[in-house]
Amino acid sequence: MSDFYKILLEFIAILLIFSVFACSPKRVLVVGTSPDFMPYEFFDADGRLSGFDIELIEEIGKRIGRKIEFREMEFTDILPAVVAGNIDAGLSALTITTQRMQEVSFSTPYTTNAQVLVVKYDDDTWDDLEKDAIEERLGGTIRIGTCENYIGYFYAEKVLGETGTLSGYLNFTEAIEALYNDFNDVLIMDRIVALKAAEIEENNIKIIDVTLTTENYGIAMNLNNTKLKDQIDNAITTMIEDGTLERLTIFWKE
Ligand code: ARG
Repeated sequence: MSDFYKILLEFIAILLIFSVFACSPKRVLVVGTSPDFMPYEFFDADGRLSGFDIELIEEIGKRIGRKIEFREMEFTDILPAVVAGNIDAGLSALTITTQRMQEVSFSTPYTTNAQVLVVKYDDDTWDDLEKDAIEERLGGTIRIGTCENYIGYFYAEKVLGETGTLSGYLNFTEAIEALYNDFNDVLIMDRIVALKAAEIEENNIKIIDVTLTTENYGIAMNLNNTKLKDQIDNAITTMIEDGTLERLTIFWKE
């Protein structure tokens, strides 16, 4: 083969290698979410996945060089999917708890929330109560509703008394329906989500804005995936430092 052809072949080979790298898609980060929790994850009027968590992870994806692929699932299925390694991360307004930390690792907290009471709009018997008085009533004869496996459920289990009942629903919409159809007296829910729902369901429900417990939200990952945790934590830290996280928080919480 002449030198000319050798050089030509080498040139073509180099060109091929470069084009493969240039076109190679970013590695995908599979994220499980339960889009039934406005303003964190929900479908907007155009049917697009939207919310605080969604924008947060898209931005993290940009910063760590991964393309986000969402996997929609029921809330109860998210942590088991992280543990089984079927998804890379669980992102669903997940409250960080020591109990959950036995199963998965959590990112640095990215926002805070609280549990509050939701009652029927015309129920004014809770209006002026402080936390202690509220908890005393929750420990009496009462029907409490909340969602299965939510932090509100664990809280309700603690305060529930012998004459009270506790019902867990699959999602917030079902829990609200059970409240205004009078299957329950009260509902315990994450404050920001309850506030948004009360705006929409204006004449049906209202929130009693007394903090029952406070909490941090984090992104859940497999305990073995320490590399991903480092990357996500770094991304969140830079988002705190450059003001991106604050901007997102103000936009979605108001
Ligand atoms: N913060 C609560 C918890 O972690 C509720 C989260 C529900 N999230 C959802 N996308 N439905 O238990």
